[in-house]
Amino acid sequence: MEFLKTFTPELTIVSPGRINLIGEHTDYNMGYVLPTAIEKKIIFKLRKNGSDSVCHVYSETYDTGFDLNLNAIARSEVEWENYILGVLNEISVRTNKVRGFDCVLQSDLPTGSGLSSSAALECGLAFGLNELFDLGLSQLEIVQLAQTAEHTYVGTQCGIMDQFASVMSKSGHVILLDCESLEYDYIPIDLHPYKIILLNTKVSHNLASSAYNTRKRECEEGVAIIRRKHPKVKSLRNVTEEMLNASRPEMDATVFDRCSFIVAENKRVLQMANALRKKDLLWAGQLLYAAHHGISKLYEVSCPESDFLVEFSKDNPNVLGARQTGGGFGGCTLNIVHEDEVDAFIATASIAYKKEFDIALEAFEVKPSGGTLVA
Ligand code: GLA
Repeated sequence: MEFLKTFTPELTIVSPGRINLIGEHTDYNMGYVLPTAIEKKIIFKLRKNGSDSVCHVYSETYDTGFDLNLNAIARSEVEWENYILGVLNEISVRTNKVRGFDCVLQSDLPTGSGLSSSAALECGLAFGLNELFDLGLSQLEIVQLAQTAEHTYVGTQCGIMDQFASVMSKSGHVILLDCESLEYDYIPIDLHPYKIILLNTKVSHNLASSAYNTRKRECEEGVAIIRRKHPKVKSLRNVTEEMLNASRPEMDATVFDRCSFIVAENKRVLQMANALRKKDLLWAGQLLYAAHHGISKLYEVSCPESDFLVEFSKDNPNVLGARQTGGGFGGCTLNIVHEDEVDAFIATASIAYKKEFDIALEAFEVKPSGGTLVA
């Protein structure tokens, strides 16, 4: 791309991916989540280019880019461009202060692996333009506009967790976020002598986006049935097991399973926060296994590859717990592994996974890290 010949950045933004320790699919059900940013990130190099409306975007990592005109923002056929275009569209609803800019991206955040490279892309751009053009957006506005961009331009009716974690995280902590009130608490996470190891299945099943929206609808269907008996209920957040069981006869079996996962998962998030506060790592591990069981059997957003890795980890007494992290249908499993066992665990898991699926496993340690910042 022509602009690269003279490109010198004015501003560099670091925008991280995230893991979610526990609380999957609870965010759009107005419940609790427990995510944190990780060190893997997208770096944005930005400058104003003097034009009124012409912008250039280039990804060094994927060697691909595109030009756009701020006066003619529309959805693209190319999926990743929609994360950028969606954010620009949302910003234009709020302010007309953005002018032509050049943007170069670098990433060490694997895409489609459940680590929210999409939120990192959306939030990093919004954060960067906010700095570059002095837009006056608050962190929460950045989070919310990035989430809306994903609804309108990408088509996933996602909750707020990923964008919130990417922007708001704090090193050494997980965020206990109440997705109804948006109140949050930073919970220190000290797993010593254990580490968080991610095993990347390297599969991202492409039904993920439509299946995600279906899960959301099934939960809403459950809420509508429960409301017949409990008109004050707004979301599964307000539903107890007793209320759910009382409505079971009126409910489709699948809808019941979806709802019962969410009701239990919300409880597990609060239990996990307590387990971390007490440093009860055995309990924390058990909660991960219980969560994965629900993800796989009740919410049905796992896949054979993730299930295999979680089952594999159960044979190793130095692994306290494991589960698939993120939206589902592949991506990474999150494992709590004793520091002395990390290499052996990765080696044996890689051999077993290769044998079963003929895929080279990717494995890495992650540390709870801080949110988006100016480098
Ligand atoms: C995706 C969505 C989030 C959340 C998770 C599942 O990452 O973007 O909002 O729903 O799935 O917990």
